[in-house]
Amino acid sequence: MNQIVLIGFMGAGKTTVGNLLAEKMGCPQYDFDQLIVDKIGMSIAEYFDQYGDAAFRDIETAVLAEVDTLKGVLSTGGGIVLKDKNRTLLKKMPYVVYLKADLSELIQRVTHDEENVRPLADSKTPAEIEAIYRPRVPLYEESARIIIETTGKTPEEIVTEILKQV
Ligand code: S3P
Repeated sequence: MNQIVLIGFMGAGKTTVGNLLAEKMGCPQYDFDQLIVDKIGMSIAEYFDQYGDAAFRDIETAVLAEVDTLKGVLSTGGGIVLKDKNRTLLKKMPYVVYLKADLSELIQRVTHDEENVRPLADSKTPAEIEAIYRPRVPLYEESARIIIETTGKTPEEIVTEILKQV
């Protein structure tokens, strides 16, 4: 396999696992949030503030279309599955891996991540985060060919499981 795409909710470990996976495979990692920040020249939080969610989703879609044929590990943002167009593209890609974690673990991670400011999760209650999470689960499930349960596992264990399945 020459390309693996990681999808999943905020805090699922797409960037951390993607880094390690790329290292093990000896290939580049493309982190969507970073590609978007490079494109927009400001932080994602600032962009959401100034231009809103819809404009951000258009940029995310443009980035996916730009990198969909690249070789390497693609770590997407948690909202990549929201647009039909993106899901259609993901379904055509051979190794789309959904990193699935328990909601309580995701909430714990996104509410304690000081390095990564997430406009959709920042200062939200657990119930508000759950309201974002629930409708997305079927979208991740329909977009992925491989589902990895990650709760309680280390990034190394998750990478080993992914490599067994691709
Ligand atoms: C988002 C997830 C974030 C980032 C943006 C929106 C989302 O990426 O793209 O804040 O809608 O779930 P991570 O999943 O890498 O945190």
